[in-house]
Amino acid sequence: MDKHFIKVENLAVDYQTRQGTLRALDNISFSVAEGEFLTLVGPSGCGKSTLLRVLAGFVPIAAGSVIVKSEPVVGPHYSRGVVFQQANLYPWFTAQGNVEFGLKARKIAQQEREQMAESMLKLVGLWDFRNAFPYELSGGMQQRVSIARSLANHPEILLMDEPFSALDEFTRTQLQEEIKTIWQKQNQTIVFVTHNVDEALYLSSTIIVMASKPGRITEIVKPTFNQHESALTAREVRSLPEFLDKRNHLINLIEDAHIAAFGNERQ
Ligand SMILES: Nc1ncnc2c1ncn2[C@@H]1O[C@H](COP(=O)(O)OP(=O)(O)OP(=O)(O)O)[C@@H](O)[C@H]1O
Ligand SMILES: [Mg+2]
Repeated sequence: MDKHFIKVENLAVDYQTRQGTLRALDNISFSVAEGEFLTLVGPSGCGKSTLLRVLAGFVPIAAGSVIVKSEPVVGPHYSRGVVFQQANLYPWFTAQGNVEFGLKARKIAQQEREQMAESMLKLVGLWDFRNAFPYELSGGMQQRVSIARSLANHPEILLMDEPFSALDEFTRTQLQEEIKTIWQKQNQTIVFVTHNVDEALYLSSTIIVMASKPGRITEIVKPTFNQHESALTAREVRSLPEFLDKRNHLINLIEDAHIAAFGNERQ
């Protein structure tokens, strides 16, 4: 197993704004092993999406290096699949058409495309809806299609930016369990962003806590209860003493970072 599947060293990212140059990320260093479920948490504006977009190859870097499988990231690539907060499916394609779209663009033969789409739609529980158009699907189902679309490319890394935050609590829990199963079964490397500490703790093998101004890492937390082979249910995980300890710790860290960034409204 490659311990440095993703290796970020002394990364800095600048945005040009009307007020001048904004350093969105500064001095970011971490490594992600193959098959890890890494989650980024931290207050709004600390640079979580920016970091994810750097890994996707959408944002140029100002300093440092971002290496995936020994190669520097220089732009987007289908081997790094991205799932955003909103599903952004093509409205004129069916669920299956959406899943096949990227494969078609890569000139994968029709038969292979269909097989891939079938197995991915089955994996996310939407095979019966393969002929439905996005407007005929609920938000949660659309998000499932977008996950299937990303997985169909067999991405080496799945990058997910608050993928479940627009969903109701029940659908969210269901998709959390699905993505965790996918992670466990396929040894998929995942980088995930969330505001929700419980979600981070339920899913991740590593949690990076960030603070802002400039966006930086304050702590790396490693829950020991989320392993590939772990058979604990969400309920069991939530009542572990380690879960409760780490939950308190993370909430305190994020609250401190929030107060540092925005001040304490209760004062
Ligand atoms: N395209 C852009 N141009 C200029 N500034 C940007 C751009 N995108 C993000 N920023 C700034 O960079 C900083 C980090 O933004 P980013 O979206 O990465 O934060 P975030 O942690 O994802 O926040 P949230 O939790 O609200 O999604 C913020 O100060 C933001 O205003
Ligand atoms: Mg964001």
